[in-house]
Amino acid sequence: MTEDIDRIHGYYSPNDLYNKIIAGLNKLGKDLSGVTLDDLQPVDEFHIRGDTATKELIKLAAFTPEMHILDVGCGIGGSTRRLSHETGCRVTGIDLSNEYIDTAERLTRLLRMQEKVAFHACSALELPFEDNSFDGVWSLQMNMNVEDKLGWLEETCRVLKPGGRAVLYEVCGSVNTPLYFPVPWAQDDSMSFLVPPDSFRDFITSAGFNIHVWNDKTSLARKAFKDAKKPVGEPDLPVLGVYLLVGDDIQTKAYNLHRNLEEDRVSLIETMVEKPAL
Ligand SMILES: C[S@@+](CC[C@H](N)C(=O)[O-])C[C@H]1O[C@@H](n2cnc3c(N)ncnc32)[C@H](O)[C@@H]1O
Repeated sequence: MTEDIDRIHGYYSPNDLYNKIIAGLNKLGKDLSGVTLDDLQPVDEFHIRGDTATKELIKLAAFTPEMHILDVGCGIGGSTRRLSHETGCRVTGIDLSNEYIDTAERLTRLLRMQEKVAFHACSALELPFEDNSFDGVWSLQMNMNVEDKLGWLEETCRVLKPGGRAVLYEVCGSVNTPLYFPVPWAQDDSMSFLVPPDSFRDFITSAGFNIHVWNDKTSLARKAFKDAKKPVGEPDLPVLGVYLLVGDDIQTKAYNLHRNLEEDRVSLIETMVEKPAL
């Protein structure tokens, strides 16, 4: 692993994550034999606007039940499972973090979804799959940690079947720099590689995709973070939350994301792209 990748891997490597989530579910009085996607949503959908965004993206993707979809940078698999649950698709998730993948697999077994949902620990830059393997691709808020955007998008295009669609939901830069750190995806600027939306578009087309849908979701992101305040004193954290994935300073990270959105330092893009048919 390069130094950068090591640092990013370290950031997304909490200890004993699955057991912490189980302890949270127990504390909330959930019967573990009946845990639902919605019970896990506060912790397992680690992207702006959580399950609301996932449901919108599922509609946009319009994947059909016979398809096999790749989720690139799946985290602990919340949207991987939701995508499979709502569409009937088989979904394979990959993520850099061994701890996240272990947690993703165990949560998937807890929800008895392992026949349709599987995971691998690997880098988005070196996918262990043959060319033209997947009917569709889905990637939610991973690009921020990827410096080699063209490499990532070319690798994504390689494993997608000709004519297949990829749905990307990504934080980009904006007109102003620098960012306030820490943010939910990075402790500092050594782990964050944002490019403005126009450059992101160029990378997508250079990788070989045609862009079919391009929606700027920044104003919805601003709305979602409008109440994020600068924390004072000890953090007041919920029983289950994404702080379990990236640390107790999550309120500072949310506040900085709010400032970055308000001051046009970051933007949020939803796009559907297609690999040209042969
Ligand atoms: C903000 S989280 C989003 C997780 C998930 N997509 C979701 O929406 O819940 C970013 C994820 O990207 C993963 N990631 C970062 N760089 C990666 C890379 N080069 N290859 C694979 N995964 C990566 C991280 O480990 C982390 O799980």
